[in-house]
Amino acid sequence: MKKLTLDKFPKKVLGSIDIQKAFVVSRLIVAAERLQVFRVLERNPMKTEALGRALHIHKFYLAAFLNSLVSLGLLRKVNDIYRNTALARKYFIDERSIYWTRQYSKECVRAYETLTILEDKLRSGRSYESIKGEKKTSNTEAMKRDRRLAEDFTQMLFHLHGDDAEALANYLDLSKRRAVLDLGGGSGVMSIALAKKNPQLRACILDIAPVCEIAAGNIRRARLSGRVHAMAGDISRTLPAGYDVIMFCDVGPVSQKLLRNAYKGLPENGLLVLADRYLSKDGTKPLDRLVEHFVNSSFGLESWVEMVERVQSCGFEDVEARNAYRDSWFITGIKPGTA
Ligand SMILES: C[S@@+](CC[C@H](N)C(=O)[O-])C[C@H]1O[C@@H](n2cnc3c(N)ncnc32)[C@H](O)[C@@H]1O
Repeated sequence: MKKLTLDKFPKKVLGSIDIQKAFVVSRLIVAAERLQVFRVLERNPMKTEALGRALHIHKFYLAAFLNSLVSLGLLRKVNDIYRNTALARKYFIDERSIYWTRQYSKECVRAYETLTILEDKLRSGRSYESIKGEKKTSNTEAMKRDRRLAEDFTQMLFHLHGDDAEALANYLDLSKRRAVLDLGGGSGVMSIALAKKNPQLRACILDIAPVCEIAAGNIRRARLSGRVHAMAGDISRTLPAGYDVIMFCDVGPVSQKLLRNAYKGLPENGLLVLADRYLSKDGTKPLDRLVEHFVNSSFGLESWVEMVERVQSCGFEDVEARNAYRDSWFITGIKPGTA
């Protein structure tokens, strides 16, 4: 699965966008996604007016909006008929599920809102919600109340984490392991990849109930119901026994409390696995994780070095960290035996 990064756009298009206008341009692309311009045009190339009716866009903005997308290299216009370019088709249709289209573009809009008071945030150190007097709700709490959100978010990650999951399955030697407990396992993307790679392995995805329902569908479609299952629960409570691998993948900051809980849940010689996009030692990379900090992300800003120290401080030994795939770090540790 590939992301549309700026280098994929034609150079002459990028060269014409100054840094302030980039803000408007990116918002227009997010609007195109939210209105599903690319999906509608993929089914049926259309003239301006028909497209306006299909997308419910007012004529005051319609032509300028569509022509901006042409200027950006995302649409082509011939005889007043608009269609997707190969660039738009590849990154907005082929490489992107409908869940990603819906969820990610919604998150982007929330980020723009948050950024309207960036200077206040920078000066005060407070969150958007605290400045605006709004109640802050975690994504996990919101998913408990909203099944559509749980499905969009979880299935977005199923597609987004496919390559990370394959890299993790190739990196870990689980040939002598019996069972993995995948804490906050979401869609099951990681467990499914590990189970496919290791035919003897069982896996359990522990997550909130609505997410488990989505994971169960993915497990069924992967024909792994015999070895992988999803269990509703709380990763900060006492963990189910019987797993010789405990894994945290992209679950936000993994605190000492969570690590101690995992330590308690593992047998001697049990394996701990962390997978996330931790910051570099000096904190300057990766850029997209750093900038997420300003739009209320709950990812945390731990570096891989800090995470290694935290894992060691909880009693794990033979701790290893590897930047095995793009920005993703895989950290492993072993619970020592008593002998
Ligand atoms: C960003 S998603 C990552 C999902 C999956 N590990 C992956 O790599 O695609 C984080 C997941 O952790 C779950 N989660 C967060 N806090 C939890 C808790 N206290 N108990 C159970 N699940 C939790 C969320 O519901 C969500 O599915």
